[in-house]
Amino acid sequence: MNKKEYVIHQKPIPYMLVKNYFSEDDIEHMFRELKFLTPKMEFQDGTNLPTKDHKKNVQINLDKLYENRDTSNILNVMNKIYNDGELISNLEIASWFYEVWGYTNNDNTFVAYYENTDYYKTHRDIAVISMMYWLWEEPKSFTGGNLHLTDYDIEIPIERNQLMIMPSSTRHAVDPVKMIKQTDKLSGMGRYCIVRFLKLK
Ligand SMILES: [Fe+2]
Repeated sequence: MNKKEYVIHQKPIPYMLVKNYFSEDDIEHMFRELKFLTPKMEFQDGTNLPTKDHKKNVQINLDKLYENRDTSNILNVMNKIYNDGELISNLEIASWFYEVWGYTNNDNTFVAYYENTDYYKTHRDIAVISMMYWLWEEPKSFTGGNLHLTDYDIEIPIERNQLMIMPSSTRHAVDPVKMIKQTDKLSGMGRYCIVRFLKLK
């Protein structure tokens, strides 16, 4: 198994990547749920977006779906982040900003799915800290879908099983995803991003 690797960025904007973040077991548990969720995913208008075509993707909000959060493999796996002392101390190396982690008292988790020509133009997340975790079925069946921090001209190549943490107000965009072969809608072969927002109530 590949080893976890922390990549800390301090300037011009403090963000962190963690490569190979979850175990193969955790990934398998999440995929079982993703297979069930994908046919139920729908386009949803974003908050404060200028136009209807600012994004093209589908998503499902896990907090709305489950009354009991323990039911969800994805939520259980994502919760492991909260007990990851190494991750939190590395974030504090990135910036004092991440001390706010300890003061956030609410979270929201959803899965976004991109295939065919899906994209998301420049926007800010309405939260304090944003975590993005990328996953896809192998062999990888698409190109594109990289993340851009648009105010800083930074491109973040997405990797499977990579976690990214950044201040939610950092403007960012997702490149169009192109499927290598034609696939049915909601095929499950596209780009999954499990997103968790840390918030203040
Ligand atoms: Fe976003």
